[in-house]
Amino acid sequence: MVVKAKKPLAEVAKLTKAQAKVEHKRLALEIEGHDKRYYQNDAPSVTDAEYDALRRRFNALEARFPEFVSSDSPSRRVGAAPSGRFRKVRHAVPMLSLDNAFAEEDVIDFVGRIRRFLKLDEDDRIDFSAEPKIDGLSMSLRYEDGELVTAATRGDGAEGEDVTANIRTLEDVPQKLRGRKVPDVCEVRGEVYMTKKAFLALNERQKAAGDTVFANPRNSAAGSLRQKDPSITASRPLGFFAYAWGEMSAMPEDTQSGMIGWFEHCGFKTNPLTKLCHSVEQLIAFHRKIEQQRARLDYDIDGVVYKVDRLDWQERLGFVSRTPRWAIAHKFPAERATTVLRDIEIQVGRTGSFTPVGKLEPVGVGGVIVQNVTLHNEDYIRGIGGDGEQLREGREIMIGDTVIVQRAGDVIPQIVDVVLDKRPRDAKPYHFPKKCPCPLHTDVVREETATGEEGSRARCSGEFACPYQKIEHLKLFASRRAFDIDGLGEKQIEFFFENGWVKEPADIFTLQARNPKLKLEEIEGYGETSVRNLFSAIEVRRRISLERFIYALGMRHVGETTALALARGYGSWKAFHDAGLKVAKGDEETIAEMDALDQIGDTVIKSIAAYFGESHNRGIVERLTGEVTILDAEKPKSNSAVAGKTVVFTGSLEKMTRDEAKATAERLGAKAAGSVSKKTDYVVAGPGAGSKLADARKHGVAVLTEDEWLKLIGE
Ligand code: IVH
Repeated sequence: MVVKAKKPLAEVAKLTKAQAKVEHKRLALEIEGHDKRYYQNDAPSVTDAEYDALRRRFNALEARFPEFVSSDSPSRRVGAAPSGRFRKVRHAVPMLSLDNAFAEEDVIDFVGRIRRFLKLDEDDRIDFSAEPKIDGLSMSLRYEDGELVTAATRGDGAEGEDVTANIRTLEDVPQKLRGRKVPDVCEVRGEVYMTKKAFLALNERQKAAGDTVFANPRNSAAGSLRQKDPSITASRPLGFFAYAWGEMSAMPEDTQSGMIGWFEHCGFKTNPLTKLCHSVEQLIAFHRKIEQQRARLDYDIDGVVYKVDRLDWQERLGFVSRTPRWAIAHKFPAERATTVLRDIEIQVGRTGSFTPVGKLEPVGVGGVIVQNVTLHNEDYIRGIGGDGEQLREGREIMIGDTVIVQRAGDVIPQIVDVVLDKRPRDAKPYHFPKKCPCPLHTDVVREETATGEEGSRARCSGEFACPYQKIEHLKLFASRRAFDIDGLGEKQIEFFFENGWVKEPADIFTLQARNPKLKLEEIEGYGETSVRNLFSAIEVRRRISLERFIYALGMRHVGETTALALARGYGSWKAFHDAGLKVAKGDEETIAEMDALDQIGDTVIKSIAAYFGESHNRGIVERLTGEVTILDAEKPKSNSAVAGKTVVFTGSLEKMTRDEAKATAERLGAKAAGSVSKKTDYVVAGPGAGSKLADARKHGVAVLTEDEWLKLIGE
């Protein structure tokens, strides 16, 4: 093994692609687990700042290697799916998230990016609405003809939970909007929170009654809203600050600050510390001032938010993935605590990779109880590797050690140091398992780096034989974003697998024929009518969209977004399947065709080739396609002149930046590709266009000037 000296935080720019890939995958899994605990269980196990550190690193990896981006990637997702106790509500406009800034340079970069995107000069003034970032739960309140009709939590951003009856008990939420300019449809968004004082008093009452004690005001606000009985919510003092909106049939104002004033006018509370700033310096001064006030405020905040004030500029700036370009959260620094590491356990993921998890003596860090902490990989535990992790250089972590745990801002905890003075005599160095903890006890191998060296990530060598990997794949297969089979959750999959009833995806669809009288009521999580419900949920999913089907196969690097791109690119299962088989055989023309698809690159193609190259996988697919009907992919719905077309922008554009041009094209249903092929419909060339223009001529692709393009799209 190549032993590397531990570097302080290796820059993402210096990672090899293979290292970045391994780290990206690991971070995705970690973030997913934390999201679930945070959004679904209201029980985050890490601090906000640690979580943010992971997200930041993760985003940097994706920024450098966009081909890693997939829809199961946390950058495409906001929180985990809702917990299912309340009716689900689909948001008319998705509830998105904010990108984070930690250092002042991040704020300077943010403003610089906006300036460049909008093509503003250095001395053009940009006004920002600077607001405290309330650490509560975001809520969308829908008013029709001025009356409150629905209140929904954020959930996974697309779909939340209907908590209208509970929200009606909040004094800060008007039942009817008063005042002028109330549009027919108006969705007011903001944060539900509990004051610190109310939180402490509630916990006292809970303790006295022997009920759940909440970890922090955010969790107690969430717990109070998730009550089936609104009178319980009514007894819990919850507040609401309005700061954003969703669907609006008309806009009453044309600035963020104007909208905040309008919310007040309609009867909402807005945060009194909100301030209009005119420069980066003023933003940073605002952050400092609010940080000083933070401890004295009676509600939790975890940073401040800056938003471009002009709404026409917000619209032009648009979104990158799930975060707006026009806003950023500037977070406050991390909080720390000391505790003891009791044990280390190994988790095996879907692709066989190992994650060592530290089991801690539970400790409160920044208001949350932390019991588990990721230890990344073997090198990290030995204090010699794990580029990018937070552990102090050269520290080996032993079982029994006293460790310093940090939660930075939001959620994920990290061990940042070991207190050597407190190391007990019987502290045990951790020996990374040489065998997979799965029943096969297969040998552990190390993932290879791009240069063929051993990487720091260990994995089970059992591949298809490893039951842990099979179970993890089945879980993905039945999950919400794949086949979405109601009643077939993780526990049930484990149960069926352990009983030998479901060993591969096709078995799900033959389950009823083989076991018509399953006694599911004996399994935890199933009610009496469960068997019937499960079988009908399975039947419903015998017809499945192509993108879900492709995603459900669980190919590495093929997340939701990639699956959608493949589905749109090939249109039918037959076309995609044929291509997969050809790619596996190294057919160059098919590889080039796949490569020309938007968002599909080398990594994905290699993964598809590896998947279809395995006879085991081909068998799984064949048995599965015998059970289900795969629907052809939908065509983009837009009726614009460029819908469904592929366009490449090259050279410098004068009326807009390249990013803006691409974003507009995508909004109109076109694909904005990076290179020219015979599948390209238009090349929009500005001054300085080089090889792409030559490629366009070579392939006989139509070349447009910027003005011709604008005319074509009707702008
Ligand atoms: S604006 C498009 N403003 O922070 C984003 N969010 O990370 C719209 N939050 O989900 C959100 N205070 O729960 C915005 N003044 C504020 C906020 C705020 C707290 C929360 C909100 C959101 C999360 C984004």
